Amino acid sequence: MIFNIETERLLLREMRVEDLEGMFTLDSNPNVHKYLGNKPIKTKAEALKTIESVLQQYRERGIGRFAVIEKESNQFIGWSGIRLNTEYNMNGFTKYYDVGYRLIERFWGKGYATESGKASINYAFNEMKLPELYATTEIGNKASHNALIKIGLHYESDFYFEQEKLDLRWYKINNPNL
Ligand SMILES: CC(C)(COP(=O)(O)OP(=O)(O)OC[C@H]1O[C@@H](n2cnc3c(N)ncnc32)[C@H](O)[C@@H]1OP(=O)(O)O)[C@@H](O)C(=O)NCCC(=O)NCCS
Repeated sequence: MIFNIETERLLLREMRVEDLEGMFTLDSNPNVHKYLGNKPIKTKAEALKTIESVLQQYRERGIGRFAVIEKESNQFIGWSGIRLNTEYNMNGFTKYYDVGYRLIERFWGKGYATESGKASINYAFNEMKLPELYATTEIGNKASHNALIKIGLHYESDFYFEQEKLDLRWYKINNPNL
């Protein structure tokens, strides 16, 4: 599948096997995984598995996270976008779309989560015509909480995610056009 979403400073495109180096930099960093269960990856094979899983989601679900490219440097800076979740029970939901992002540490604090998140929500509401979107973060993840609120999600409640033994927050945004 091909995606091509342009924002002021970013390009959101389909993830590719050539993003392997960047995905490894992203997911092998313990700071990135601080609020994601503290399980950074150790090998490129694991990063490749993640990419392959996203490509499979494109094929089977028509959507998956986008690769985020910084236009100025043409660099892969992480991922952002929409995912159809079917493999968890999250706060009682077993099939729902969420918005999320994960960026390489040196690209934090530049507003890129906000910029890519807004573009993802636009895509979900205007192209996919989804009625609503959800998001989750670990309770202490201030950066993610602030970014989610900034892109328009509403904090709803806290819940315990049994599968990963994490205390999480639940957020929602409705499609204003429906
Ligand atoms: C969460 C994450 C994507 C945020 O990316 P980012 O591009 O730095 O976020 P933004 O620059 O768009 O910032 C959004 C808001 O959060 C605030 N923020 C960013 N980092 C923060 C921090 N460490 N603590 C508190 N607030 C923070 C920003 O100030 C901004 O609000 P403001 O404009 O009112 O100042 C990034 O930190 C990341 O990839 N973390 C690791 C993975 C992760 O936790 N992903 C989310 C899982 S649910």
